[in-house]
Amino acid sequence: MTLFPRTGVIYRNDNLPVLRQFADESFDLVYLDPPFFSDRHYEVIWGDESEIRSFEDRWKGGIGHYIDWMRPRLEELHRVLKPTGSIYLHCDPHASHYLKVAMDSIFDADNFRNEIIWHYYNKMHDRRKKMFPRATDTLLFYVKDARANFTFNQLKERRDKPVRQLLRTKRDGKMVNKKDAQGHVQYKVSTERVMDNVWRIPALQPAASEKLGYPTQKPEALLRRVIEASSNRGDVVLDPFCGCGTAVAVAHLLKRQWVGIEISPTAIDIITARMGKIGAVVEIENGIDTVEDLKGLAPREFQNFIIKRVYGTHNPRRPEFGIDGFSFMEQLPIEVKQQEHVGRPVVDKFETAIRRYGAHKGYIIGFTFTPGAYEEAARARSEGLEIALIEVKSLFEVAREIVPRPSASQLEADLYQAVRVRLATQGPEKVTSRPRVSVEDLASSDTST
Ligand SMILES: C[S@@+](CC[C@H](N)C(=O)[O-])C[C@H]1O[C@@H](n2cnc3c(N)ncnc32)[C@H](O)[C@@H]1O
Repeated sequence: MTLFPRTGVIYRNDNLPVLRQFADESFDLVYLDPPFFSDRHYEVIWGDESEIRSFEDRWKGGIGHYIDWMRPRLEELHRVLKPTGSIYLHCDPHASHYLKVAMDSIFDADNFRNEIIWHYYNKMHDRRKKMFPRATDTLLFYVKDARANFTFNQLKERRDKPVRQLLRTKRDGKMVNKKDAQGHVQYKVSTERVMDNVWRIPALQPAASEKLGYPTQKPEALLRRVIEASSNRGDVVLDPFCGCGTAVAVAHLLKRQWVGIEISPTAIDIITARMGKIGAVVEIENGIDTVEDLKGLAPREFQNFIIKRVYGTHNPRRPEFGIDGFSFMEQLPIEVKQQEHVGRPVVDKFETAIRRYGAHKGYIIGFTFTPGAYEEAARARSEGLEIALIEVKSLFEVAREIVPRPSASQLEADLYQAVRVRLATQGPEKVTSRPRVSVEDLASSDTST
């Protein structure tokens, strides 16, 4: 099926099948910031053991395996780019040379424009490493066809110090210095210069106002340059590895149309909140609408979804208590199980955990429960401890009724409160006398950029 992509949409999926659906020559500009080969934690942002395993499986063939994974995506991006379009591939030094070879073969070396060096001069460095601190990423800039009338808007940047420049003029067919009536050479003071391929933009610091807590978030200033240079108002920008949505947010602010693809529902929640704050309406395609959708999620994504669905918060000390999260108002323990037939042993273990925690009630949320699980919950109730067994499907039927439904403004406050707390304390581990952590905190808890 060929799709003329609707704009203002984030597709929740692996980008390869989504790209394959898009019609040829649909986009004016593509920016992509894929998981780097060097950083095995990129895709395991949520720190789940089984995700770590599947990620390592994917790259166990080394760089060749990584390029094999990237190549079909780059081929699709070539196909969906307009003949006048441009693409910026954001990469790091471990893979940039391999990716350049792949890009040369797909986009043609003649269509290579620049290797842009993003110099983030303000990043903390590990002084124990016996090497020069790394302070750059690379963006490979190609156009689809260098002979076509592709968009390129020359950008200027402020000079560190203003300089005096000689004024020149043409006399008798030759360029000469311009002089005034008294014969003095004329100057102009220049405060700007044409932007070159070394972009000095600070990396986002923990206290930066635009920081959302997503580990791989890029600065808006970087995306502003890409989008201003290679697109015009109304053009369509695609980011197939959206992360927390920096490219689509900047595209919206610069009055471009945009389309995003992102595999992580947790990231999509952050994008939705971010876009809402700048007045953009976001449509999520292939969102989580049914119980079946949930079965395919990675374990930590599943947990994030459920905790958010009941307006709960994550437990920052999960290993200590054996509790995944807490309900919205009463802060009662929640255990989330991505499985059918949750049985007696799970209830038994949870009972121990909530007794140790000191609560009188708790919730286990799973797809289905065995009769043994219900018997165990009934026994606990006879001893004064209530363990509510909640089937996931009931969260879709009577959505969000297991805890009192908060107002929209409470929700908004809840979403951003945790971010503010984290910014103030620089890390979820210091947040808490009470365990209150949002998806953003969770995202930032395993950061590795
Ligand atoms: C490096 S981050 C992008 C960060 C982004 N530039 C920002 O500023 O927030 C890469 C993102 O790609 C997503 N991702 C990884 N594999 C993907 C795939 N096959 N399809 C779509 N998204 C994917 C990850 O979930 C992650 O959010």
